[in-house]
Amino acid sequence: MTAADIDAGMIEKASSARYSREEVTKNGFVSEEFVTSTFHRKGDDLEVKPEIRERIAFQIADVLDARLISPIERADIVVAQNFLYHLSRKQSRTAFAHLCSLLKPRAALFVDGMDIDLRHSLTGKAGLRPLDYLIPEIHGDALTLRGAPWPWTYWGLERLDIARADWKQRYATIYLRDPPSPAI
Ligand SMILES: C[S@@+](CC[C@H](N)C(=O)[O-])C[C@H]1O[C@@H](n2cnc3c(N)ncnc32)[C@H](O)[C@@H]1O
Repeated sequence: MTAADIDAGMIEKASSARYSREEVTKNGFVSEEFVTSTFHRKGDDLEVKPEIRERIAFQIADVLDARLISPIERADIVVAQNFLYHLSRKQSRTAFAHLCSLLKPRAALFVDGMDIDLRHSLTGKAGLRPLDYLIPEIHGDALTLRGAPWPWTYWGLERLDIARADWKQRYATIYLRDPPSPAI
């Protein structure tokens, strides 16, 4: 796994693999089962287990910089969570294209925390198909954090509208690139 962030301090923190219990559990969705399978105790802190840690390479990279993105190996899964909405819409389009360039021909993109209309149109244009898996439930979890301030903040999230014919493309967070098999 390759993990990237523009912020050197963030990469330093992640590379240390060490977190306080509060840092790990302040997000209410983090279960005790996840904590025990991911970390072991180190004094009062938690440290990522070595068998997980050794599989991750960390690097500083700006998703907008094609020269930093292109050397990253193509991936089965690309995860882009909760940062595209910090960018301008023009930058978000560039970032989305760079993220798609990291996908293998058959791969999945996990993307949330992005302007929903942009995600809707850009996934469609890129030929990415929504995975029909727990779409309302995953959207509901995101709403608990981002629903109340919508539409008053840029990171707010609109409510699910399953009356829309295209609701799965709009509200999914997992999209598949799976070109049809060649005819035999
Ligand atoms: C709100 S945090 C999200 C962290 C994590 N993905 C999550 O969902 O909890 C946003 C992260 O995006 C990083 N970031 C912001 N702009 C970036 C860029 N242009 N390229 C790479 N990372 C960026 C920030 O440094 C920060 O660590």
